Amino acid sequence: MTSSTLNVARPRITLEAPAAPLPSPVDPGPADAAPETPHVQAEQFSILYGEAMAVREISMVIPDRQVTAIIGPSGCGKSTFLRAINRMNDLIPCCHTTGRLLFDGQDIHSPQIDVISLRKRVGMVFQKPNPFPKSVFDNVAYGPRLFGIRNIRTLTEIVERSLSRAALWDEVKDRLAQNALGLSGGQQQRLCIARALAVEPDVLLMDEPTSALDPKSTARIEDLIAELRGDYTIVIVTHNMQQAARVSDFTAFLYEGVLIEFGQTRKLFTNPHNKQTEDYITGRFG
Ligand SMILES: Nc1ncnc2c1ncn2[C@@H]1O[C@H](COP(=O)(O)OP(=O)(O)OP(=O)(O)O)[C@@H](O)[C@H]1O
Ligand SMILES: [Mg+2]
Repeated sequence: MTSSTLNVARPRITLEAPAAPLPSPVDPGPADAAPETPHVQAEQFSILYGEAMAVREISMVIPDRQVTAIIGPSGCGKSTFLRAINRMNDLIPCCHTTGRLLFDGQDIHSPQIDVISLRKRVGMVFQKPNPFPKSVFDNVAYGPRLFGIRNIRTLTEIVERSLSRAALWDEVKDRLAQNALGLSGGQQQRLCIARALAVEPDVLLMDEPTSALDPKSTARIEDLIAELRGDYTIVIVTHNMQQAARVSDFTAFLYEGVLIEFGQTRKLFTNPHNKQTEDYITGRFG
């Protein structure tokens, strides 16, 4: 992704020299190694709620412009880890971290990081669609306006491009002025994706984005993820094993906050390295 098409102020996150590649518990192998510094890497990264450790010393490199699924039983730390990537856990006072979570080589939790700029580059879509009680247009234009774009022609172009990218344009092009809360659940979720795409992020985080949707809307979102793949680094949390197998290139299996296995989805689902992974994907627990 480039931001050259948008007259948006560049984020204040400065890029440092690329960090040395980090070890991962299961090395995906040279064929999977990213050629450049990946956007997101965790290095012995832990997250605690007070004394309770929800994520335990995770080290992994999230491959750029690929889809990574995070799977694991309820309470294993999937959402906690995902939220850390754009500092959403800041909203929880007792939550703190140890180790490092890097974005473009910089520690996301360092005081130098501008959180608003980070969230521009790392968009998030939640389980329950959460459009603002505003028009369809204003929902998508919200982020670009926040970053200073006022020109209505530019905003109109961004709104159309983002809604097209989210496979929603044809359905809403005649109702851009209507309240977004009048859209169906599936349309609202695609609108939230369009809203996230409008500021041209590099990374898109999705926490169970289809669990509140019917099968048809779920299929549309999965198709959309397939289309966005290649342009964005997507991290999706899902309880649906078939969904993880369908949409992702890489899968991370978490259990009690520990990264048990991380590797190519095809391999993890057909020939897992770890017995716990095998037990989980075959439904023996969780
Ligand atoms: N705000 C919070 N305060 C304290 N503990 C929390 C908070 N949020 C989550 N936890 C705890 O952290 C652990 C991980 O929770 P998390 O929500 O990340 O799990 P999850 O894998 O996303 O689960 P699910 O699949 O049910 O969504 C759990 O033990 C949970 O109770
Ligand atoms: Mg969760």
